[in-house]
Amino acid sequence: MNGKPTALITGASSGIGAQLAQVFARHGYDLVLIARSGAQLNHLAEILATEHQAAVKILIHDLSHPNAPEVITAQLQQTGIDVNILVNNAGFGSYGLFAETDAGVEWQMMQVNMVALTQLTKLLLPGMIQRGSGKILNVASTAAFQPGPWMAVYYATKAYVLSFSEALATELRGTGVTLTVLCPGPTASAFQARAQMGQSKILQDRELMSAATVAEFGYRALFAGRVIAIPGWQNRFLAWGVRWLPRRWACALVAQMQAPHIEPEVG
Ligand SMILES: NC(=O)c1ccc[n+]([C@@H]2O[C@H](COP(=O)([O-])OP(=O)(O)OC[C@H]3O[C@@H](n4cnc5c(N)ncnc54)[C@H](OP(=O)(O)O)[C@@H]3O)[C@@H](O)[C@H]2O)c1
Repeated sequence: MNGKPTALITGASSGIGAQLAQVFARHGYDLVLIARSGAQLNHLAEILATEHQAAVKILIHDLSHPNAPEVITAQLQQTGIDVNILVNNAGFGSYGLFAETDAGVEWQMMQVNMVALTQLTKLLLPGMIQRGSGKILNVASTAAFQPGPWMAVYYATKAYVLSFSEALATELRGTGVTLTVLCPGPTASAFQARAQMGQSKILQDRELMSAATVAEFGYRALFAGRVIAIPGWQNRFLAWGVRWLPRRWACALVAQMQAPHIEPEVG
């Protein structure tokens, strides 16, 4: 790389991850970008090299493959790259009633959203602790704060990310390494199409935040050393507000927000 500090970002081929890559490059970081879509990563790498003189290493991986994190860390070791900042952003959702959704897709989701995030952290954290510096940004969601009927597995994966991140942030105090968990609300990206959420009422009722705004907020929160970072007052109000509701009410509220939107019949 160029001798600048290095940020590794998973899920950098689109949405929040691609915007985080822009923010880190703008602030003088070299990058390791990971996703499956090589063409999109190459295109982004060209832009970051031209506009910000960032050295960018692209690693094409499917993070649902159980050995992907180990292969990634071996590739980093071979090329002598120390990761100063780890951004576990890759993730996806799947919309529908659990009894009817695809079990294979949900297995992949649990691998990408939880297992790969945990393993990459496990493999890269010792080096950070040894160097006495480093930062980890885990991307969860406002979905982490309550159960989510119609996206039951996705909400549960994000509850895992939030719980794991808060616990690890506490363990890391005094090591020189900090951890921030970014919890965006509905954000404009490829997420909704991939999750097949077109019918969900949540998309009819809420304005989507831009991925660039979420990325900028996440970057600032990371450097402010915050543990939980929720962009947008509406998202913060909802995330903290549900704590005062009985859990079955919170569940019923999300069921109502996520249920398919039915157009009223005309005539
Ligand atoms: N958009 C929202 O409303 C929202 C709200 C809260 C939290 N989030 C979270 O924000 C994060 C980023 O999502 P986004 O909104 O930016 O959606 P996005 O535009 O769909 O981006 C998702 C990224 O994850 C990567 N990814 C997905 N599956 C992968 C796999 N098997 N292996 C490697 N990479 C994979 C995708 O790359 P490839 O497809 O090229 O592999 C892509 O770069 C996710 O963790 C998501 O859960 C999103």
